[in-house]
Amino acid sequence: MIGIDLSGKLALTTASSKGIGFGVARVLAKAGADVILLSRSEENLRKARERIKAEADVEVNYIVADLTKREDLERTVRELENIGEPEVFFFSTGGPKPGYFMEMSMDDWENAVKLLLYPAVYLTRALVPAMERKGFGRIVYSTSVAIKEPIPNIALSNVVRISMAGLVRTLAKELGSKGITVNGIMPGIIRTDRMIGLAKDRAKREGKTVEEALQEYAKPIPLGRLGEPEEIGYLVAFLASDLGSYINGAMIPVDGGRLNSVF
Ligand SMILES: NC(=O)c1ccc[n+]([C@@H]2O[C@H](COP(=O)([O-])OP(=O)(O)OC[C@H]3O[C@@H](n4cnc5c(N)ncnc54)[C@H](OP(=O)(O)O)[C@@H]3O)[C@@H](O)[C@H]2O)c1
Repeated sequence: MIGIDLSGKLALTTASSKGIGFGVARVLAKAGADVILLSRSEENLRKARERIKAEADVEVNYIVADLTKREDLERTVRELENIGEPEVFFFSTGGPKPGYFMEMSMDDWENAVKLLLYPAVYLTRALVPAMERKGFGRIVYSTSVAIKEPIPNIALSNVVRISMAGLVRTLAKELGSKGITVNGIMPGIIRTDRMIGLAKDRAKREGKTVEEALQEYAKPIPLGRLGEPEEIGYLVAFLASDLGSYINGAMIPVDGGRLNSVF
C-alpha cells in the first residue's frame, strides 16, 4: 500500500493559526510530522495548537511573529534553534491590501513586498543550510491563482506574488542537486475566515445571505464549490513525502478547475 508518512519530519508552517496555513499544518500533523505554527496572535496559535493536538500525537510548537517585521523574523530564527531544524517549510502569509493600481501608494507597494516576498526569502535563507547538511528538504510556497490570471481589485497580489514563481524556479535549479525540492501552490477560492469575511461584505452589498454569496463565488468553479484549507494541505503532504520526490520547480493550481489558461 502506498501512503503518506511524514513521521520523523519537522515542518515549519507560517501564517498557520487559521485558514490555509492551519489546514496545511493540520494535515501535515495527521500525516505524522511534528509542526511549528507561526502567526501574530498567541491566542490564535494556542487554539490552533489545541485543535491539532486533539487529532494527532505529534509535537506542536508555535512562534508568535509578524512576518512583515524584520526583528520578528530574526527572533523566529533564534527560537527555531531551540525547537529543531525543519526539513519541511510551508510558507503562507497574510492577505495584502485590496484595491486597484492607482489606489495604491508607494508605502502600500513596500508593505506588500514585506508581506508577500520578503519573509519567504528571509526564512528560506535561514532554513536551507540545515536542509543542505541533511541532504533533504521540501519547500512549498503558497501564492494564488492571481499570478496566472490577474484578479480585478487586487493589484498588489497580482504583481508582487508573481515574484514567488521566480523564486520557485530559481531555487529549484540551485537546490535540486542538494536533495531539496522547491514548489509553489496556487490556491483558488478556499473557504477560510478571510473568504467568509469577503462573502459577508458581498452579502451585505447585494442583499443576500452569506451562503448565497459563497455560492456566487463557487459559480465559475467547475467542481461547483469552494476549496477547503485541508485540500491545500493534501498537496503539501504529498510534496513533502517520498511520493513527491521528482516534483521540483512546479507551480501547481489547487482551484477546482477555475483557471481558464491552458498552461
Ligand atoms: N482563501 C483564499 O481563497 C485564498 C486564495 C488565494 C490566496 N490566498 C492567500 O493566502 C493567504 C492566506 O489566506 P487565508 O484565506 O488562509 O487567510 P486567513 O483565513 O485570514 O488566515 C490568515 C493567517 O495568516 C496569519 N497572518 C496574517 N498576517 C500575518 C502576518 N503579518 N504575520 C504572521 N501571520 C500572519 C493569521 O494569523 P494571526 O491573525 O494570528 O496573525 C492567519 O493565521 C493570504 O495571503 C491570501 O491572500 C487566499
